[in-house]
Amino acid sequence: MRVGLLTGGGDCPGLNAVIHAVVKKGIIHYGDEFVGFLEGWRGVLDNNTIPLTLATVDGILTKGGTILRTSRTNVRKIEGGIQKCVETLKANKLDALIAIGGDDTQSVTNALIEAGVPGVGVPKTIDNDLNGTDVCFGFDTAVGIATEAIDRLHTTAEAHNRVIVCEVMGRDAGWIALTAGVAGNAHVVLVPEKPIDLDHVCALLKYNHDHGKKYGIVVVAEGAKLPSGAQTTVGSKVDSFGHARLSGIAQALAEAIEEKTGYETRSVNLGHTQRGGTPSAYDRMLATRYGLAAIDMVHKGEFGRLVVLRGTEIQSIPLAEAISKNRTVDDHFLEILTGLEPKV
Ligand code: F6P
Repeated sequence: MRVGLLTGGGDCPGLNAVIHAVVKKGIIHYGDEFVGFLEGWRGVLDNNTIPLTLATVDGILTKGGTILRTSRTNVRKIEGGIQKCVETLKANKLDALIAIGGDDTQSVTNALIEAGVPGVGVPKTIDNDLNGTDVCFGFDTAVGIATEAIDRLHTTAEAHNRVIVCEVMGRDAGWIALTAGVAGNAHVVLVPEKPIDLDHVCALLKYNHDHGKKYGIVVVAEGAKLPSGAQTTVGSKVDSFGHARLSGIAQALAEAIEEKTGYETRSVNLGHTQRGGTPSAYDRMLATRYGLAAIDMVHKGEFGRLVVLRGTEIQSIPLAEAISKNRTVDDHFLEILTGLEPKV
């Protein structure tokens, strides 16, 4: 078979491990040929391709980023975009397309499936918020990076008797904040699923202060919301590329905490460091399993579906189900935070 492959949306450690697994199994076990589209859906629109061979994927499993590069181009937002993609895929004589990406990317895969393209999706996002899968690869690496950073913030915050507010990624879901915050023993963890109660945050920091801990670590997801009065420098904006961007929650929160408590407060935004560098062993393994399953699905004719992890098993679900909503942090996980909090 001739199979197309692309990576779309924000990059994520483990993308190359998926590409490696798909291409290796496809060529060795099925005798497939592969066409790689460069820079996500933009590469399909522009018919910008490279051949993917065993030599191309040799040694990429361990590397961060994506050899296919990526973009946030969403062809559903471009007039005639879906039709143009269908034509490119036909011109390349493809029997199937594998799209590795988050909800935005998979919404395009789904639209192409409705237009008759045989497609399979592989879930990707460090935010871990794609519906239907227990884990997206990249999440474990991002949590590891954030946890290490939080460990480091503890010692400098303690040395200076400071509060440090650490912002992590998570536009709609607080999985990174929750997991790295708990693992890094943060004193306060704030997620988009629960509006920030500034008085409660300050009361927790004050409780620790009064009980001998003269410093504080607050971990906040970028999508967490401050009460409107304090929300001076924070908010959503659209950049010149038309991409929605969040900015400033850690800084705004640090200013509000310092004003309310009188504790010297600093902020740090871990930003894209969480997406960079080599994937963890867990993510390399998960991405490899996803890639192997995706090429098997192509050969079984299981199109219109997303590879997922359920418990320890690799399964698949309809793409339409995956893109129907985000998988946010549920009450069961939020209870981990309340379970560790002092009564204030
Ligand atoms: O991939 C999802 C994400 O990590 C979000 O948490 C974050 O808001 C966004 O990517 C940032 O992406 P960009 O690379 O476009 O700045």
